[in-house]
Amino acid sequence: MMADRPTLDRLKAQVPTISVGVLTADPMCLGDELALLDGTGVEILHFDVMDGCFCPMTTVGPFFIKSVRAGECLKDLHLMIAQPLDKVGAYVAAGADIITVHVEQHEHVHRTLQSLRGLAEAAGRDLVRGIALNPGTPVETLEPLLEEVDMVTILGVNPGWGGQSLIPSTLRRLTQVRELVEKRGGSVLICVDGGITRQNIAEVATWGADLVVTGSAVFDGKAPRENARFMLNAIRSSCKE
Ligand code: DX5
Ligand code: ZN
Repeated sequence: MMADRPTLDRLKAQVPTISVGVLTADPMCLGDELALLDGTGVEILHFDVMDGCFCPMTTVGPFFIKSVRAGECLKDLHLMIAQPLDKVGAYVAAGADIITVHVEQHEHVHRTLQSLRGLAEAAGRDLVRGIALNPGTPVETLEPLLEEVDMVTILGVNPGWGGQSLIPSTLRRLTQVRELVEKRGGSVLICVDGGITRQNIAEVATWGADLVVTGSAVFDGKAPRENARFMLNAIRSSCKE
């Protein structure tokens, strides 16, 4: 069993906070792009791993993830891939700190989560395990999986691209997740991913999300450093109100 949970403890100590999605950063100079986040308070980087099968786009794989110099930041991997059971080991080995898989991608999603636990134990390190739901998947599907996860991610958009608009049912679904978790007396972090902008982040923070993924609102090709500071400040000050 994962008795000591240093990565989970570190994450819990920071929430509410943001995980910055690198999908819209310039991949040809990612090191320089990430350096722009130094000193902003960002401590989590979100990598959208898409295989062109589970979702339409293809992005990066374990080799890339391993190559990224994230400094002190946690590597938060959102795996939008088919047949993850066979593949998660490569992502653990690539240095993931957080791995989120999807309810929809596998008939053996519970087993995939168990496998992640075993892989982390075998590697002798902590891994935060998350489960994500597409916008069209009922929240109730989470129920049998909650015992195997540290975090639930509600997608605010359909997977595939950055820069889409937040789907209005996201707040209702977030509330449903919280109710489900409370009913079971458990404690699970709640994350919202997709469609977060400068305009809506303060409101989203009041929804009670622990982790907010913010991609194109930070890496907008113009002012990532200022954007990161703005988003982080917005979520932290909203929760104090
Ligand atoms: C959607 C991804 C999101 C997305 C976030 O498939 O899971 O992480 O890239 O990007 P924005 O914040 O631009 O919606
Ligand atoms: Zn994502």
